[in-house]
Amino acid sequence: MKANDGQQNPLGDLDEWDEFLQQRYPEAETATVKKKAEESDHTYRDYRAEARPSVKEFYRLNHTHQSRDFVKAKQAEYLGLNHRRMGIWEAMEYLNTLVDDSDPDTDLTQIEHLLQTSEAIRADGHPRWFILTGLIHDLGKILCLWGEPQWAVVGDTFPVGCQYSDKVVFPEFFVDNPDYKVAEYQTPNGVYEAGCGLEKVDMSWGHDEYLYHVVKDYLPDEALYMIRYHSFYAAHTEGAYGHLMNDRDRELFAAVRKFNPYDLYSKTPERPDVKTLRPYYEDLIAEYFPPTLRW
Ligand SMILES: [Fe+2]
Ligand SMILES: [Fe+2]
Repeated sequence: MKANDGQQNPLGDLDEWDEFLQQRYPEAETATVKKKAEESDHTYRDYRAEARPSVKEFYRLNHTHQSRDFVKAKQAEYLGLNHRRMGIWEAMEYLNTLVDDSDPDTDLTQIEHLLQTSEAIRADGHPRWFILTGLIHDLGKILCLWGEPQWAVVGDTFPVGCQYSDKVVFPEFFVDNPDYKVAEYQTPNGVYEAGCGLEKVDMSWGHDEYLYHVVKDYLPDEALYMIRYHSFYAAHTEGAYGHLMNDRDRELFAAVRKFNPYDLYSKTPERPDVKTLRPYYEDLIAEYFPPTLRW
């Protein structure tokens, strides 16, 4: 599949999805939204009316094509980590070569976005591994550079092989997913066992799952959960899929929720000074990672 195919890639750039998330979960309301998600009657926000046609089309493609078979095929293709060898900063520069419809004069580069997230975490005095997690959390988006369509790189993630929660954004688009007609996949637990833990659950394919596998030997569990589940809004913000989680998941999702505001609200128009910040981050990277990793 070609990356620059308008039909496969309705978003002008990947940030259009992030902007939609910010719209869906406005900063001032987030605390309330999160609290309400624990209770059954969630504050209703009409994200459907607010979504641009391109964003809707993006979710339609995502929900139609992210089947269990598709996920298994992408795991087989990528999880051998045989695509490239490179260090973390090199991967950041590689991600920066992603050319989309964004405007180079006004829009921030991918490196600038990553640094805004990590700098916001650093400014709040969080541990070094947390700052590093902010820096790298979206590096899995390099999947776009290998021809993966937007719907297989970004977007809210969800478990495959079990019933879709209506807490997943635009749940109506799942009717065209081939799994929708597989009875075994449409029970609450599907192919899984209740309380089996997310480790046993296959998530829709994207930048989160991919990066988790690249870095899983090098970071603490909290960081790995932040990376692996940061787009799993149905769970971390809406409270769905608790029946598949175990105690470890419940404990570590506190970290995912702690990370989320830095992901959603750290973007500002001011450009971070990449040159000045680089030595600090090169040191931080070297503290946790070898000079090259398998991607
Ligand atoms: Fe992300
Ligand atoms: Fe992000």
